[in-house]
Amino acid sequence: MNDNLHQLRCFGCSARIRGEQAGATFRCAECGDLFEVEYPGWGLGSKSDGRPNTDRPNAGALKWLWRERRASGELLDHSGVWRFRELLPVLNSFGNAVTLREGNTPLYHLPRAAKALGVDQLYAKHQGMNPTGSFKDTGMTAALSVAKERGFEWVACASTGNTSAAMAAYAARAGMKCLVLIPQGKIAWGKLAQAMDYGAVTCQLNTDFDGCVNVLSTIVQEAPIYLLNSVNPYRLEGQKTPAIEIAEYFDWSVPEHILVPGGNLANSSALGKGFREMKALGLISRLPKISVVQAAGANPLAASFALNDGQSIEPVHANTRATAIRIGNPASWRKAAQVIHETGGWCLDVTEAEIAVAKAELGREGIGCEPASAVTLAGLKKLVARGDVAPSDTVVLLLTGHTLKDADYTIDFHRGTLLRPEETIGLAPEINALRRNAIEIEASPTAVLKALVEIQGGWA
Ligand code: F0G
Repeated sequence: MNDNLHQLRCFGCSARIRGEQAGATFRCAECGDLFEVEYPGWGLGSKSDGRPNTDRPNAGALKWLWRERRASGELLDHSGVWRFRELLPVLNSFGNAVTLREGNTPLYHLPRAAKALGVDQLYAKHQGMNPTGSFKDTGMTAALSVAKERGFEWVACASTGNTSAAMAAYAARAGMKCLVLIPQGKIAWGKLAQAMDYGAVTCQLNTDFDGCVNVLSTIVQEAPIYLLNSVNPYRLEGQKTPAIEIAEYFDWSVPEHILVPGGNLANSSALGKGFREMKALGLISRLPKISVVQAAGANPLAASFALNDGQSIEPVHANTRATAIRIGNPASWRKAAQVIHETGGWCLDVTEAEIAVAKAELGREGIGCEPASAVTLAGLKKLVARGDVAPSDTVVLLLTGHTLKDADYTIDFHRGTLLRPEETIGLAPEINALRRNAIEIEASPTAVLKALVEIQGGWA
């Protein structure tokens, strides 16, 4: 069966090419911009000769089919990406899909944070609950499957850690070889451990993420290695599926706001594409406002919005403890800026202390996440304070990574060694109230009970 109905459109000059024509770095030969997957059959209600366009998916039929698949025994239907495969027909045969049962991630209610913020409905879509612990799995199942179908033996990525963990796992499942380039000393141990465990060839380079990207772009032009960074447009096809899961959860009415962390800015672009396509196909009737939150030390898009409404970008030398988003020259910034403009969202940044507090507050609700994910709650506080989010609005935070990816960060926070005193100015009381360092104590019931009484002031 030939399921493949896509072409690639340049985001800059709109040049269109067939999927196989893309160069090794996925940059347009005409203008150097990135590509986006498009499905020509979806655009029109009827063909140029007046016959009905049977390629265009029918919204009602899709909703029914996707619900039916929840009870299916088929491996592909168990994937929260491929269950929606009609919206990502990028393979010649879906039988080539490499899946680890990704997607199907929980949408948690956050009643305490909602109450504290005065927002009625606040949820976290936890993409850290994917097979390798981050949202990257949804994109990786799509793009690595394309690599496999096209006959590549090697795949590669530059990464702040999560992409490499996901790529290494999916490559191992597919029996493919993979090369990982990571910035030395600037990725969380959990992620490095994963790449090693899944058998990647891992090179720690004496540079940052942006430097790793540059090195890899030369390598893929000199060797038959398939690039799996998010400049690869197939990654975004998988990463748009959480948008479908969110819409399905709300019975095809969408929340008012979605907040997404911004690093290389592919995820916000992908979610925006997902909602845009669902609206074009009649699955939903309006778009949520999509806002991107960056760390203040790695904020090129937030700075660009503050300066010129996202018209141009000035790369920065990135520095943040949220190492996942320690990116100074984001590849997909134009796509993300378009999503923010089109949906009426905002781009903002938050400080190191604000990130740490937000992460600990989510933890207190039983929802662990990576520091990079917690920027969303920190950003929401600012949007609420500015009056951009109304109390009656429904808000979804995209949590992108699992808390165990970066346990060092969490332990440093609770031990009080994460932040310098000058970074905590204004937030010290909140930080002290949230910290729960382990108590080193004598091995006796009396000593433990005494400590409990000291903490909670006696028993009722
Ligand atoms: N959150 C986490 C946990 C991430 O790992 C990343 C990106 C982001 C947010 C930002 O997403 O780049 O699409 O804007 N991590 C990449 C990596 C760059 O190599 O794992 P983005």
